[in-house]
Amino acid sequence: MIQLKNVSKRYGDLTALHPLDMAIQQSRATALIGPSGCGKSTLLRIMLGLITPTTGEVWFKEQRLSQENVRTARLAMGYVIQDGGLFPHLTAEENVTLMARHLKMPLEQQQTRLQELCDLTDFPRPALARYPAELSGGQRQRVGLMRALMLDPEVLLLDEPLGALDPMTRSQLQTDLKAIFQKLQKTVVLVTHDMAEAAYFADTIVLMREGIIVQQGSLEDLRDRPVDPFARAFLMAQRREVEF
Ligand SMILES: Nc1ncnc2c1ncn2[C@@H]1O[C@H](COP(=O)(O)OP(=O)(O)OP(=O)(O)O)[C@@H](O)[C@H]1O
Ligand SMILES: [Mg+2]
Repeated sequence: MIQLKNVSKRYGDLTALHPLDMAIQQSRATALIGPSGCGKSTLLRIMLGLITPTTGEVWFKEQRLSQENVRTARLAMGYVIQDGGLFPHLTAEENVTLMARHLKMPLEQQQTRLQELCDLTDFPRPALARYPAELSGGQRQRVGLMRALMLDPEVLLLDEPLGALDPMTRSQLQTDLKAIFQKLQKTVVLVTHDMAEAAYFADTIVLMREGIIVQQGSLEDLRDRPVDPFARAFLMAQRREVEF
């Protein structure tokens, strides 16, 4: 579904991503994990075409992303931004329907879709009239998810969608999200700090460090066959959270 070929990203002297290749399989969930600053969000935003890589190519469904097709490609990808990224001056409903209104989706269709999304994410419909500051953290995350799903994208890219939630809400949302992924059978790329969460959601876990992909595979691969001391240490540090 998404392919990165020799993709790297430099910001001045800082190399956020060293040249890497990566393939995201259709209808599968992939988790990107690694320490803060290792390049997870950068990689996700490159897949979306929001950041242009310094070297390399991004392919989306057999098409190389270019200035001409990036807008169309982006409409096929739902993006949940790290820390929510809702517009504070728009109500929840206005946040969710922003692109749909821009694309002039008929009102009736918007309302039908809103109801589907409220049902799907278990969000109380009346709360759609509220502003982000008037919602709980968990509700804001659901609004972010609804916004990403509004146009029924083929791919869902989620940047720490469950960050900064209390453990109960997080656990509830984890369960809900997984059910949503299974129901929708979308291609999912999810960024997380948490190995247990990565293993819960994803078939493939991609462990990163300082702009490099250290190892990718299943939880068992990473746990039983860490490729280097960093991979081993990262797994060990998270051991208490992963049940193994
Ligand atoms: N626009 C930018 N200009 C300069 N440097 C940047 C820019 N965006 C990111 N960086 C740097 O690139 C590196 C990778 O950042 P990125 O946001 O991808 O990390 P991350 O893995 O998502 O971290 P976190 O887990 O904290 O969200 C960091 O060192 C960051 O400071
Ligand atoms: Mg990030």
